[in-house]
Amino acid sequence: MSQVYVEDVGSHDGQAVTIKGWLYNKRSSGKLHFLLIRDGTGVIQCVVVKSAVPAEQFALADHVTQESAVVVCGTVRADARAPGGYELSVTDLQVVHTAAEYPITPKEHGVAFLLDHRHLWLRSARQHAILRIRSAVIRACRDYFDGKGFTLLDAPIFTPAACEGTTTLFATDYFGEPAFLTQSGQLYAEAGAMAFGKVYCFGPTFRAEKSKTRRHLTEFWMVEPEVAFLDLAGDMDLAEDFVEYVIQRTRRERRRELEALERDLGPLECVRKPFPRLTYTEAVTLLQEKGFPVEWGADFGGDEETAISQAFDRPVLVHRYPVTCKAFYMKADPADARVALCVDVLAPEGYGEIIGGGQREDDLPVLEGKIAAHGLPQSAFDWYLDLRRYGSVPHAGFGMGIERVVAWLCGLHHVRETIPFPRMLERLRP
Ligand code: 4AD
Ligand code: MG
Repeated sequence: MSQVYVEDVGSHDGQAVTIKGWLYNKRSSGKLHFLLIRDGTGVIQCVVVKSAVPAEQFALADHVTQESAVVVCGTVRADARAPGGYELSVTDLQVVHTAAEYPITPKEHGVAFLLDHRHLWLRSARQHAILRIRSAVIRACRDYFDGKGFTLLDAPIFTPAACEGTTTLFATDYFGEPAFLTQSGQLYAEAGAMAFGKVYCFGPTFRAEKSKTRRHLTEFWMVEPEVAFLDLAGDMDLAEDFVEYVIQRTRRERRRELEALERDLGPLECVRKPFPRLTYTEAVTLLQEKGFPVEWGADFGGDEETAISQAFDRPVLVHRYPVTCKAFYMKADPADARVALCVDVLAPEGYGEIIGGGQREDDLPVLEGKIAAHGLPQSAFDWYLDLRRYGSVPHAGFGMGIERVVAWLCGLHHVRETIPFPRMLERLRP
């Protein structure tokens, strides 16, 4: 009898199959036991009838505990009432391992308890749906850039220098020399762009975020394209096209999971080009009109981003922030030196920033001055400055945080459920 995954039972209607999985839930009446079995691809209701199995197996079906590992054989039957549209009429039941009393029961648990049991919580239907969506988002990101002639260029995790400011660095000891966990692969992607023209890096990034917010993890995954001979306008077009692709493709591919999460699909259907664009200065005016006491020059916090993003039905590109709000590598706007050639993409429905990027400073003396003005050690950036010594060209890129995008797609309030094992201020375990 062939082993079949639950998601494929539809093509075996009427046939005898074997399903290998774990007991998700169970209910019984005297002559029938309904075992809900999950195998990672779906959940199927397996019906054990007293007359169809040996007596000891019928007793086993009554006593098998939640999350016990089982192998069941039976016949697939289409049944409109069954979750998933099919059920299995069981002819044989084997228990591979009897689970001890499982800590996560169908009743409600607090988030702290669930996060402490994250290694088990992953088995729950909601978490399963979210992480399948995450997997599809990552595939869409890779396919987008791979399909457009970008070369994947992995950036290192151990780095000698700060990319995104010194306040969120995780320091570590590298054989007696101080090193930092990377905050962004960008500087290395810039080296890649000068070698390959179009590159992207994708990997974990680290920030010692000392505040608890619903948008910040200390370890998160970022996809970062970088392109030679690209200016800010081209960078914004790329970000817009990329976001539309990732959202529309995942919405189509993971419809079942989005529905399981009861995600309102209407707002996701709206995520189509062109996205509205406004300058930082226009965004300040918009916020002031909404009653925010924000002054020109201040960076936006979570509340401001939420307010801006709620003003539009699709992602919005906010460009040209004050140079004082942004990192050392940003190029100043030749038309107004107070602002940087940068862009943030804010997701709608109050989600806020999902992308940060822009055009890089490509002039050696100007960049040297900025490194000094930011109080960064020149020696750590020698190699980076070489990129401005040997064939420097205008170039641009951006970084998109995977967890922020998954939270938005899934309609989650907090990013902590969008990564298998979240790392936050007060969470290093499991
Ligand atoms: O805006 P950020 O800091 O930009 C950079 O790191 C650039 N060097 C990227 C580049 O141009 N190549 O971060 C980019 C994105 C944010 O928009 C957000 O989506 C995500 O990374 N992000 C975080 N996600 C979760 N937790 C955190 N602590 C995050 N910090 C940034
Ligand atoms: Mg940013």
